[in-house]
Amino acid sequence: MLTAAIASGDPRSSARLLASLEQSGLVGSIKQWLMPMEKLPDSSEQLPDVVFLDLSHDNEAFFTFGAHLRRIHPATRIIACSATVPPSPQLLLEAMRGGVQDFLPKPIEPEALKGILAQVLQENEGKDRPSFNKLVVIMGSKGGVGSTTVTVNLGVKLATHAKKRTLVLDFARPLGNVHLLLDLQPHFGLRDAVENLDRLDSHFFAGLTTRHKTGLEILGGASQPEEWQSIATPPLERVVNVAQSSFDIVLLDMGSQFSPEWSTILRTARMILVVAEANVPSLWALERRLMALTGFGIEPDRARVVINRWHRNDEEALKSIQKEIRRPIFACLPNDYRKASLAVNLGTPLMENHNNLLNDRYREIASQLAGIDVRPFAKKSGLGDLFSFTPKR
Ligand SMILES: Nc1ncnc2c1ncn2[C@@H]1O[C@H](COP(=O)(O)OP(=O)(O)OP(=O)(O)O)[C@@H](O)[C@H]1O
Ligand SMILES: [Mg+2]
Repeated sequence: MLTAAIASGDPRSSARLLASLEQSGLVGSIKQWLMPMEKLPDSSEQLPDVVFLDLSHDNEAFFTFGAHLRRIHPATRIIACSATVPPSPQLLLEAMRGGVQDFLPKPIEPEALKGILAQVLQENEGKDRPSFNKLVVIMGSKGGVGSTTVTVNLGVKLATHAKKRTLVLDFARPLGNVHLLLDLQPHFGLRDAVENLDRLDSHFFAGLTTRHKTGLEILGGASQPEEWQSIATPPLERVVNVAQSSFDIVLLDMGSQFSPEWSTILRTARMILVVAEANVPSLWALERRLMALTGFGIEPDRARVVINRWHRNDEEALKSIQKEIRRPIFACLPNDYRKASLAVNLGTPLMENHNNLLNDRYREIASQLAGIDVRPFAKKSGLGDLFSFTPKR
């Protein structure tokens, strides 16, 4: 992850650049410097990996500033953003003297920006992974197996038990119903994010999310089936990146949809939880889905299987599926129709209750994802073989 700063004399232009940087998914922290600066940074200050000079009329002040930065911190990459396209030879010469190494035309093209940032990251020799590593995707092996129930209850446990700033992105198709399970009425949602990509930064994004009383936040999904017709997948990638810049953990309910277009988002996920039931159609679909994920270049270690509505009699079937898919089942969530449907119909997540096995399981998974102590419980419940927490990434 890179650190960056934007030096600009125009707050609106600076905000646009900020949004583009957040959307790139490659920048962790971003400073905004107002030009001309009253006091120039000195060598004792920690300077960012990349500085963007948002050129305007008075280029001289920017280049003096750039040259100063290069002098005190030669490792900083200086990139000029200019609306003069192509830059004149005179401008290029002045920029070079001002320590500028790259030129980006304005308005900034996301792919060009990402290309330069990726290059800087590579040059900085993988000090960090080029992603936020906060995204957990939840998908159903087929429809109706519990992808949304798992997303919501896990989200609540991450927010309450693990005390993580947690966001649910409702990307299920054709309709998103995360809000129903939490009895929320979002005023804004996915569509607003996608329709305002040019100003989508963490500040704007905060205005689109809806908070549940547990602290869990959601970005509401599609409320009309035809909404998805106007939503392409690449902009979703940018929504995911901005979301990760504001939260500790981002859960993405993608329902049971599956297409190669999603591979970019799936590849950046820290973990993909594939929810299935222990019946033939669901396990059949699970096996194929896992194979397809491997085909997208996702290591088996990152695609974990969650068996929902588990019942003791399922153990034999699950033992054989573990052999088929050549990986252990990550978690089993017991079948509890009464509690699950009560929770859904009341719009309340599963209650904290010591006798509630389902609730315990969700807490265990949340602890695992959040990297906090997992209490040994398997023996007591008899699910020992079917609940394998392998070391976290
Ligand atoms: N552990 C459980 N025990 C019993 N019932 C459950 C359990 N988990 C979920 N359910 C029930 O299964 C049904 C489907 O759940 P859910 O809506 O989460 O599935 P989904 O995979 O998101 O479906 P869709 O494909 O429509 O998005 C709901 O009625 C829910 O209450
Ligand atoms: Mg669903």
